Amino acid sequence: MNVQVRYLSKSGNTKKVADAIAETAGVSAKTIDEPVPSETDLLFLGGAVYAFGIDEELTRFIATLDQSITRVAVFSTTAVVKSAYPHIKKRLSARGIAVSEKYFNCHGKFAFMHRNRPNERDLDKARIFAREIIEQNK
Ligand SMILES: Cc1cc2nc3c(=O)[nH]c(=O)nc-3n(C[C@H](O)[C@H](O)[C@H](O)COP(=O)(O)O)c2cc1C
Repeated sequence: MNVQVRYLSKSGNTKKVADAIAETAGVSAKTIDEPVPSETDLLFLGGAVYAFGIDEELTRFIATLDQSITRVAVFSTTAVVKSAYPHIKKRLSARGIAVSEKYFNCHGKFAFMHRNRPNERDLDKARIFAREIIEQNK
């Protein structure tokens, strides 16, 4: 199974989750500057919420994704809202790309909020999420 991990992370929080997921999948996490091969079976795609939405660069990246990618699993970090999932899913679905119903989110530090997050507990949960998604998509 060809598994890919891509993320956009402005201050490093989502990158920590991306690295934990990638390590579980036995691949390396790459930023969205790296194109996703068309033969990808499972893409873990991560971002954060900034000013109530996702970064425009992530929106543009989703527009470049090949529609032959079999499935995308979303992960995110946020300070307040539940996740970036609805924002990312909406854009992927509009392109006809299948999105896993299961997603991962944890808090990420922002100003004086959520110091030290994501922490090791968050990253362990991200690893469990990755294992479950990989198992489901075998
Ligand atoms: C400019 C800016 C705007 C943000 N707006 C929101 C927001 O609207 N809702 C929210 O839950 N978190 C918000 N956050 C917090 C980020 O989602 C959180 O810090 C996240 O972990 C950042 O991920 P990153 O380090 O991968 O960039 C904002 C952070 C920044 C820097």
